[in-house]
Amino acid sequence: MINVRPTGAVLGAEILGVDLSQDLDDVTFHKIVDLWHEHEVVFFRDQKLTPAQHVAFSRRFGELELHVRKDCCRPGYHELFVVSNIVVDGKPIGSQDAGLFWHSDLCYLKVPSRGSLFYALEVPHDANGKALGDTRFASSTAAYNALPEATRRKIDGRKAVQSYKSGYYRERNAGPRKTLTPEQEARTPDVEHPIVRTHPANGKKCLFVNEGYTARIAGMDGAEGDALLSELIAHSTRPEFIYQHSWCAGDFLLWDNCLVQHQAIPDYKLPLRRHMERTTLTGTAPF
Ligand code: SIN
Repeated sequence: MINVRPTGAVLGAEILGVDLSQDLDDVTFHKIVDLWHEHEVVFFRDQKLTPAQHVAFSRRFGELELHVRKDCCRPGYHELFVVSNIVVDGKPIGSQDAGLFWHSDLCYLKVPSRGSLFYALEVPHDANGKALGDTRFASSTAAYNALPEATRRKIDGRKAVQSYKSGYYRERNAGPRKTLTPEQEARTPDVEHPIVRTHPANGKKCLFVNEGYTARIAGMDGAEGDALLSELIAHSTRPEFIYQHSWCAGDFLLWDNCLVQHQAIPDYKLPLRRHMERTTLTGTAPF
């Protein structure tokens, strides 16, 4: 029997009474999808999933993306993007610096991702037992709803340029990333998407710009465009739109890449280990 416990923030809910390693019946699965669309982020505690079960549950939602950084995926599972600071035999097991800037997964593709399913395998803790490496989620619907009327008028019908390269090469504490291969570059040309997206399932309006990958407002060059983009980015992550998830090993969390954007908090380092794995759902063209 499914129970739901909203987080108390403007988004996010825990779903209780579901074991995701089992083959879920359609009624339970559709209930989870409805709750996800309603709460934008949902999570399940105490899950015990093999990589194959993580992928199998994700496939119930549809096609999965194969990340452009194949070297960051779990060996044998190109569908599982690994986010971790762990290094084995001198080689990082995944992306060590993913998600430090606010972003929505794969927003830089012509068809961005519908959502991501993130599983916590190892979570770092401080000396007092407090979990580190939280993830913040900001509701893009709450951000859209709170936009001043004058700003809504300015962005009406406009698009923004989403750029994988500008996000990939951003300055990070971990130092510069490897240069993208010509093949990776070819897979990630800059794209334009509406600044205000409509969620394909529930029709909610979402503000679709982010700090990580939104390079500029299309057709609005110079200071005017820069000022508008800065205003939208600052607005979209105001504290009242945010739920901050404190991880426990075994947490399995779904975020919707249209309804929310997210950011990882890098407040830990080795020997404290963090190991998370993500599947990323194929989406539909924004409108
Ligand atoms: C991501 O953006 O996929 C990573 C988020 C996190 O590590 O908390």
